[in-house]
Order: sequence, then structure tokens, then C-alpha cells
Amino acid sequence: MPDRPAVLFVCLGNICRSPMAEGAFRAAAEAAGLEVTIDSAGTGGWHPGSSPDQRAQATAKRHGVDISGLKVRKVRAEDFRRFTHILALDHANLADVLDIRPADATAQVRLLADYIPGRAGEAIADPYYGGPAEFERVWVDVTAAATGLIEALKRR
Ligand code: 4NP
Repeated sequence: MPDRPAVLFVCLGNICRSPMAEGAFRAAAEAAGLEVTIDSAGTGGWHPGSSPDQRAQATAKRHGVDISGLKVRKVRAEDFRRFTHILALDHANLADVLDIRPADATAQVRLLADYIPGRAGEAIADPYYGGPAEFERVWVDVTAAATGLIEALKRR
């Protein structure tokens, strides 16, 4: 079990939603002075080492957050011991994560939107086939979740 909170955000490709969630949460945690390990990964992880989608990078940048240095990776078994929280962006991501959860997992696995007041159990919609408005919607959602998550970790 890690000795400080460690949060892993998981979507399908690790190029749109989870890198934005990682960037928004890192910025919020720094602003709150919270010491926390932060990473993101994909259940698909088709292109390991790739950078986030240009539209995700542009959306984050508009909000003052640089996610250009993040690299795609796939979720792996050790993540379930290295992280205290594994947060899935949608229900398919959650099901896929639970499918590969090893018997000795210590991480709590749940939906990211559980940390948005009034949005528990909801998905953060995949913007991949959308446009700027869908990417902006994701940013708003992951920022709201980041705030709720910080509150929850402070109470821990
Ligand atoms: P993400 O978005 O899961 O938020 O990174 C997607 C990225 C790639 C694909 C779908 C969603 N794809 O089908 O390639």
C-alpha cells in the first residue's frame, strides 16, 4: 500500500479523457498543496508512448495546463498495488479495469464522476468523435471531479 494518496485515471485510449483528468487534477492538487502521486493509463493502450490527442492538449492549454509531455500507457497489474485510487472515466472503462483486477489489489476502483456532487454513477463522455465543445465538456467535468477528489483525500 502506498504511504500517500496515489491516483490513476483510466480511459480507453489514454489520449483524451484520462490525460485531461490527470492534468486538471495535478493543477488542482498543486494549488491545494496536496502531496499525491498522479498518473493516467488506458485499457486499450494501442499506441504506447504517444502524446495526448491534439484537441485534448489544446483544451488543457486553454485552461493553462500543459499535458503535452504525457505518454500513452496501458493499465497493468502492479497499478492495483501502486495506486490507492483507480478512477475510470466511463462504465466500459470501469468494467475493463475490474476484469483485470488482480486478487491482491489494494486500490479502490470507482468511477471518476462519483466525486462530482450529484453525478455519482455517471460517465464522462468520450469526446473522440466530437468537436471542441465535447472536449470542453470533458475539461469542465474532470475539473469538477478534481475538486471533489481533493476534498475527499483531505478528509482521508
Ligand atoms: P479516450 O478517447 O479513451 O478518452 O482516450 C478515445 C481515444 C481513442 C479511441 C476512442 C476513444 N479510439 O477508438 O481510437
